[in-house]
Amino acid sequence: MKQNTVLMMVLSGICFLPACFPQIYHISQSPETWTVAREKCRSKYTDLATIETKQDVLKIRTLTKTLSYVWIGLHADTESWRWSLENQNYFNAQEAGFRMWDDGEPSGSEYYKICVKLQNNGKWTVQLCETPAPLFCYNEGTSSFIYVNLNKTWKDAQSYCREHYTDLASVRNQSENEQLKNMLNSASAWIGFYRNSWKWSDGSAYLLDNWAPKNPSSLIKNTCAGSFSGKWYNVDCNDYWNYVCYTVQVKKVVKLVLKKSDSSVNMEEVKGEILEKLIQKLKEQNITGNVKLNWVNQPDGTIFSKKNEESKIILTQRPTSVPGLDYQSNPDLC
Ligand SMILES: *[C@@H]1O[C@H](CO)[C@@H](O)[C@H](O)[C@H]1NC(C)=O
Ligand SMILES: *[C@@H]1O[C@H](CO)[C@@H](O)[C@H](O)[C@H]1NC(C)=O
Ligand SMILES: *[C@@H]1O[C@H](CO)[C@@H](O)[C@H](O)[C@H]1NC(C)=O
Repeated sequence: MKQNTVLMMVLSGICFLPACFPQIYHISQSPETWTVAREKCRSKYTDLATIETKQDVLKIRTLTKTLSYVWIGLHADTESWRWSLENQNYFNAQEAGFRMWDDGEPSGSEYYKICVKLQNNGKWTVQLCETPAPLFCYNEGTSSFIYVNLNKTWKDAQSYCREHYTDLASVRNQSENEQLKNMLNSASAWIGFYRNSWKWSDGSAYLLDNWAPKNPSSLIKNTCAGSFSGKWYNVDCNDYWNYVCYTVQVKKVVKLVLKKSDSSVNMEEVKGEILEKLIQKLKEQNITGNVKLNWVNQPDGTIFSKKNEESKIILTQRPTSVPGLDYQSNPDLC
């Protein structure tokens, strides 16, 4: 069809990616703790600032140029315990939830990053991951555990096990726990259980890594992220800082420039078909966040201006984040 030739040229210019629905940031210059700052952002705007793209980073940097730290929405995720072994098929439903915490454990709730050791009473305890200790590896080929009597940090222990065997040991049930306990030849040894992650206050995926060098520090307790000169630092959530909130732009008017390869095509006649093709294209890109497209009528009632073949389109609602798309594309249009 004729409109196909028109469309192919349009699509490189249409601005439907999340970069087109930018965060609108609001700086508040009345210092608060992170938690209070979040409450205030949520009552007045959407939430504490979420930063998803390099453009967001630049915007925050410009906005806070004259300020010291400002709170952003990033904070430690202290509930996300994980096994080093990433193969989820290794665990059945109950096994993934197996825990053998000692009394009073897991302690260390104030640390965002913490690692787990099995002690000679068979119970689990947490320890700063940088503390050297012996380790338990797991060898998939022989389905066996190996006790390694070397003093290593948890991270080095993980590398050691991955290099020589499969990974650090995961514990699926009481009998495996007993097996490890019986092999232990010291007060305690690392197993593969740990936590080490961050999350955004509004639930957005934590994708962009924009930490300042040597950050985040695993020694800072009760920690939340502050931005300083655009880079992130983890500081005590109870400190008082200015903060950045955001709202989301829900409507965007985009100008399309269309080129016709066939001058006999009447653009007004094919406008419906073009719109359908664009919607189809969004679906192919898996943009399912309720994005609606509408043409904008010009004062004379037409959509296309014949002189330069420009037209406008309205996008409403922000698409939910779409992994795998290049959010950076066409920043000039946005
Ligand atoms: C590991 O460190 C402990 C405590 O410092 C020490 O007693 C032990 O001998 C060390 N083990 C090895 C294999 O170096
Ligand atoms: C522990 O888990 C392993 C792996 O699923 C299984 O082979 C073994 O039978 C289990 N032992 C007990 C006592 O449930
Ligand atoms: C959209 O999702 C489908 C099914 O989940 C997948 O096969 C396809 O590759 C995705 N397309 C893009 C552009 O991500």
